Amino acid sequence: MARTFVVTSGKGGVGKTTVTACIGRIFASMGERTVALDADLGLNNLDVLLGADSRIVYDVVDVAEGKCRMRQALIRDTDEPELYILPGAHSYDKSAIDPQSMREIVSRLSRSFDIVLVDCPAGIEAGFRRAVSSCDEAILVTTPHISSVRDAETVLTLLKKSGINNIYTVVNRVRGDLVLSGEMLSRNDVERLLGTEVYGMIPEDDGINLLSNAFNYGLSSGFAACRALARGILSGVPEVYDLTKKYRGIFGGIKRRMKRNT
Ligand SMILES: Nc1ncnc2c1ncn2[C@@H]1O[C@H](COP(=O)(O)OP(=O)(O)OP(=O)(O)O)[C@@H](O)[C@H]1O
Ligand SMILES: [Mg+2]
Repeated sequence: MARTFVVTSGKGGVGKTTVTACIGRIFASMGERTVALDADLGLNNLDVLLGADSRIVYDVVDVAEGKCRMRQALIRDTDEPELYILPGAHSYDKSAIDPQSMREIVSRLSRSFDIVLVDCPAGIEAGFRRAVSSCDEAILVTTPHISSVRDAETVLTLLKKSGINNIYTVVNRVRGDLVLSGEMLSRNDVERLLGTEVYGMIPEDDGINLLSNAFNYGLSSGFAACRALARGILSGVPEVYDLTKKYRGIFGGIKRRMKRNT
């Protein structure tokens, strides 16, 4: 049976879909048979991020309604042969998938894959509950801003109430230069605020958006941070990317000043 993760946040736009796509490719590159399910029905964009949007024939709602077989809806990633995506529906009747159907879909996927990633919609309403009820573990994404951390705290409580105890907290869009100067929440700050261990610190990095270009994602610091996160999730021991390193020392100080002036 697969490990099943809901990727959630509470606050919208903090990077759930980006993290799902990135670690999906990384898990697959490590030889884990991985499937990423887009549970953000109606606002789906995981397919776009992974460059699969033009190849969609069936989606998760078609599978739930029995209009196609699971394997007809699954799309293989072009860069990583061990990664598949189960697309969300572009337009749909929200009642089409209830928590029970979502659980059945994830349970069917978990028989053929090692890792199932469920990209959750923002908020804590029905879409959130449907995604959470289908998974055993969670990846909780926040940004280093108080409003986002507060929402993450609420979600953390809800996840625990739903019986999810393995929760991997990730801080996304962090600027190492500002953490070093004390102007942005650090890993320790977030751990103190949430009362939980942080498994990933991902830098603000435009390269992370270029996932469909293998050359770029190989070079990006965001990708390197996601790789450390994926290793930590697999081993259970956090391996957090050091995003302040390049801003320390004499040359680091110059980089910090240059960054501030851009
Ligand atoms: N580490 C990063 N560095 C730079 N840009 C990023 C980073 N992470 C995410 N982004 C950008 O932030 C925006 C929102 O990201 P994304 O769609 O992954 O968030 P989301 O949490 O899935 O949003 P929603 O709640 O709407 O589903 C996108 O434009 C994405 O490219
Ligand atoms: Mg999203």
